[in-house]
Amino acid sequence: MGDNLKITILVDNQAGEGLIAEHGLSLWIETQDKRILFDTGQGTALPDNARKLAIGLDNADILVLSHGHYDHTGGVFHVLKHAGGIELYCHPAVVQPRYSIRNGIAKPIHMPRDSMAAIDKLSAHKLHWVSRAALLRQGVGLTGPIPRDTSYEDTGGPFYLDPEGRRADPIDDDLALWVNTPEGLIVCVGCCHAGMVNILNQVRRLSGVSRIRAVIGGFHLLHASDQRLERTVAALRSYSPDIVAPCHCTGGRAVQALMDALGERVSPGCSGLTYKF
Ligand SMILES: [Fe+2]
Ligand SMILES: [Fe+2]
Repeated sequence: MGDNLKITILVDNQAGEGLIAEHGLSLWIETQDKRILFDTGQGTALPDNARKLAIGLDNADILVLSHGHYDHTGGVFHVLKHAGGIELYCHPAVVQPRYSIRNGIAKPIHMPRDSMAAIDKLSAHKLHWVSRAALLRQGVGLTGPIPRDTSYEDTGGPFYLDPEGRRADPIDDDLALWVNTPEGLIVCVGCCHAGMVNILNQVRRLSGVSRIRAVIGGFHLLHASDQRLERTVAALRSYSPDIVAPCHCTGGRAVQALMDALGERVSPGCSGLTYKF
């Protein structure tokens, strides 16, 4: 697809002036003919920030969920209630119960129940389960599940499907959205549970385009080992993107490492920021 792509950060851990900060992510993507909401944050910041940024969520055509965690799906209830014509794209695992367990204490981190109930009420033709790669239109795609190929991206974590911690959660629902432009791929990521380099490699394979122009979203490098961080930054630098916008769960140390390696091409995200392509 041609240019005229606009991406606005609606919800992020960092907030622009007058906007609400929240541990979560939501991106508003305007292509030539579609308005796509990518994730919804926890649900508190989204309606307020959208109103202040004059973004009409009720005009959204498509809602994409990167994965089922509460900090990406808490606003689903609100969005489905107000955007009458919207169609939802997500992996079926987004609705399963899941927990993070730290120091023996299980914390539920699944989609809130009102959001699950709203999905349940969607008519069948508006709900698209993404169990494999899909195209939303020519040049705009979803990865579907992402192979975990790199040796250095530890895609585990304290994530389980039961509060006792018997079954590890592989977060198979993790997916990314890509847009092909004349100057390369724009890739939107939620939390990068599949690993950022795995995601970028999968997008390159699926699209048949090797040039990465921009990456926007949460890179999940807060607890990354030095080795993982070093190799991730090196891989990203080898792709030579024009814009890297670390948001949400990237972590300050990783943002600094990215800035050291890529200089001004790194633009740390915060709600209210808009990127035009
Ligand atoms: Fe997240
Ligand atoms: Fe997550």
